[in-house]
Amino acid sequence: MNMDPRLQEALNDQVTAEYTASLIYSQISYDLSKMSFSGMSAWMSAQADEERLHAGKFSDHLLARNTSVKLSSITLPDLEITSALEAFTIAYAHEKKVSEMIRNLARVADDVRDFDSRTLINWFLQEQIEEEDTVSGIVDQLRMVGDDGAGQLRIDARLGAERGQAPPAQ
Ligand code: FEO
Repeated sequence: MNMDPRLQEALNDQVTAEYTASLIYSQISYDLSKMSFSGMSAWMSAQADEERLHAGKFSDHLLARNTSVKLSSITLPDLEITSALEAFTIAYAHEKKVSEMIRNLARVADDVRDFDSRTLINWFLQEQIEEEDTVSGIVDQLRMVGDDGAGQLRIDARLGAERGQAPPAQ
């Protein structure tokens, strides 16, 4: 089935958006590493990798459908992250923005009656529910511990362990 140009454009925009997300997560990872939150930094770095995989899922679909992939230029927000809570709050806000983009993809696909893209888009709708839930949970926990350094380090160790980091020596 030939893809409607509206959907092609929206999917192309999504490829760029996923690369943008990857770069934002990379920047957050660097800032967290500078603050010595090595576990949270590893967690963000793994998210950056995952966003590149997401870009690949969309680009694979475009190419499999005999269309082309055209990346747009990427402008990153000027982030100044000074705390772990700020880092995850920014990540959460960005995930919510991505979720809205995915919902818009579903709207466009429905408008142009492109059934062939729905499996992919539905996968992403579900993925965004999980991503938002995970990041908002971490934001809640960071709010709970507040300025308590020991609490922040416990969250740092747990997130690092989730990404395969060895626990800190006792
Ligand atoms: Fe590709 Fe985190 O959404």
